Amino acid sequence: MQPTVIAPSILSANFAKLGEEVDAVLAAGADWVHFDVMDNHYVPNLTIGPLVCEALRKHGVTAPIDVHLMVEPVDRIVPDFAKAGASIISFHPEASAHVHRTVQLIKSHGCQAGLVLNPATPIEVLDWVLEDLDLVLLMSVNPGFGGQSFIPSALDKLRRVRERIDRSGKPIRLEIDGGVKADNIAEIAAAGADTFVAGSAIFNAPGANQQAYADVVERMKAAVQGARG
Ligand code: DX5
Ligand code: ZN
Repeated sequence: MQPTVIAPSILSANFAKLGEEVDAVLAAGADWVHFDVMDNHYVPNLTIGPLVCEALRKHGVTAPIDVHLMVEPVDRIVPDFAKAGASIISFHPEASAHVHRTVQLIKSHGCQAGLVLNPATPIEVLDWVLEDLDLVLLMSVNPGFGGQSFIPSALDKLRRVRERIDRSGKPIRLEIDGGVKADNIAEIAAAGADTFVAGSAIFNAPGANQQAYADVVERMKAAVQGARG
């Protein structure tokens, strides 16, 4: 298993002061920035694009930016995000006509590639492509909105994908996204996740400042460490 990563989803940050929010959450101990891209087509919501990613890089953010594309089609926007400073680009197989090609496209632009499985997407989509991936992202809510509740069947799915990754012998990360909180992260870690997205749990913490974020991140890391033994 890979070292633990906490990736706050900036979807729940205050967009009116996004640079400060990202600085605060990274200073609070977060590892990556999770960047949710929604297009009002693949999902019924509209968020941020490459311009904002580039603005965060220009602002001085050096942490990995974990771009979660909820857009259809995928391929046209990949080079734009690579140029804007994305580190990892993940996409949904339903949104790409040629999944293997999209994975290679992401890598050819110098980024790591991830595939995202919705709650009802079978894990068989990983057949024939798993070994080319740097990351598998399991959705524990239906994509489109922050602040939804964790869907419990994601735990069994995590266990099954964990087995496949372990069998592959490759350093592929297993990321979970949706409804992750300080009080359920231990069982999520025990099921096999090593990379944890959390939006509302962090950015809606009372006070919404660096100390509040640090308290949540610290509780999450302690819980994961306890679960991993
Ligand atoms: C949902 C997004 C998530 C979301 C998570 O489509 O992919 O990253 O921001 O938010 P919480 O942690 O509040 O469920
Ligand atoms: Zn996401």
